[in-house]
Amino acid sequence: MLTTWREEMATGNDVIDGQHKELLRRVAEMLKCAKEQRGHEELGRLMWFLKKYVRQHFRAEEKLQLDCGFPGYEAHKLQHELFFREVLRLERMYEEQGDNTVMIVAAITAMCEWLRSHFNVTDKIMAEYLRENGAETIDN
Ligand SMILES: [Fe+2]
Ligand SMILES: [Fe+2]
Repeated sequence: MLTTWREEMATGNDVIDGQHKELLRRVAEMLKCAKEQRGHEELGRLMWFLKKYVRQHFRAEEKLQLDCGFPGYEAHKLQHELFFREVLRLERMYEEQGDNTVMIVAAITAMCEWLRSHFNVTDKIMAEYLRENGAETIDN
């Protein structure tokens, strides 16, 4: 499943790994609620989480990459910026439309795309590097 945590995703850093697990949990909850026709109940919580998550998590992840000398830092940061803009777009849409079906589908699509293209690919490459380069010893 797209939202299942696997050990190969672990960076070894408790803060980052905790944030990643939380992201998977939130997306899984959103998918579950949407399937049960109560996506509107979870959408507000997901939007609230995203607002806080994208800033905190991206900042922490980028700092850890710099501290560990990760060579893919610039390209990785660019993907974060693009998703940050996507979250701002969702926030605007949510303000305008509320929790209607179009908004629920847009949020789920954006989250699944993020997991597929960034979390399962770009973050995984980073995780491998960080495991080998002592990320667990760095406090952020
Ligand atoms: Fe990332
Ligand atoms: Fe990440």
